[in-house]
Amino acid sequence: MIVSPSLLSANFADLRQDLEMIDRSQCDWLHIDVMDGVFVPNISFGFPVLKYVAEVCHKPLDVHLMIVQPEKFVREVAALGSKVMNVHYEACTHLHRVVQTIHDAGMEAGVTLNPATPVSVLEDIIDDVDLVLLMSVNPGFGGQKFIPNILKKTRQLRRMVDEHGAHAVIEIDGGVNRTTGAQLAEAGADALVAGSAVFGAPDPEAEIAFLKNL
Ligand code: DX5
Ligand code: ZN
Repeated sequence: MIVSPSLLSANFADLRQDLEMIDRSQCDWLHIDVMDGVFVPNISFGFPVLKYVAEVCHKPLDVHLMIVQPEKFVREVAALGSKVMNVHYEACTHLHRVVQTIHDAGMEAGVTLNPATPVSVLEDIIDDVDLVLLMSVNPGFGGQKFIPNILKKTRQLRRMVDEHGAHAVIEIDGGVNRTTGAQLAEAGADALVAGSAVFGAPDPEAEIAFLKNL
């Protein structure tokens, strides 16, 4: 399992310590949640902060933009040295063009679906994307409860990716813990984002190792 701990749940008063833990741990990526207070009802952090995060952390960055008009920030996300740039399907009028722009900037392109958006909207773009991020909570906050219907959506998406012979990684974000993580592994997820389950655990590295072995 690919594991991508979410920075949103880190201790921002002592970020270096948490980033060093991430580097030491068995996780694959660092998940970065950028919010604008418009697309979602919350504001997190922006590029001036992330510049320093990217300098300290050596894991590939998995950037999740919960913002309107994400195409405006392709250059900024690329400048961080990000591996993946995830944009919301619901925030892009011209999704295919945004995916092309992300690729032109040298990054992998991820498309994110809110809980109420069906997997079927991806039918005509699944061959062109590198990752699909299924939201298993309504985006905007860490520490929410996993929406069980996402297990069905994960299976549907697994089927679509396999039928197309597509290479898209299936990543799930929100309410992931040991229990829901195991259910998602069984449903066909390739990657798990975990915020509060990792940073709220007495031993975050052990929590990461557990998810890694699912
Ligand atoms: C929610 C964010 C998530 C969040 C997950 O809008 O996209 O990445 O950090 O947090 P947990 O794992 O606590 O649900
Ligand atoms: Zn996220």
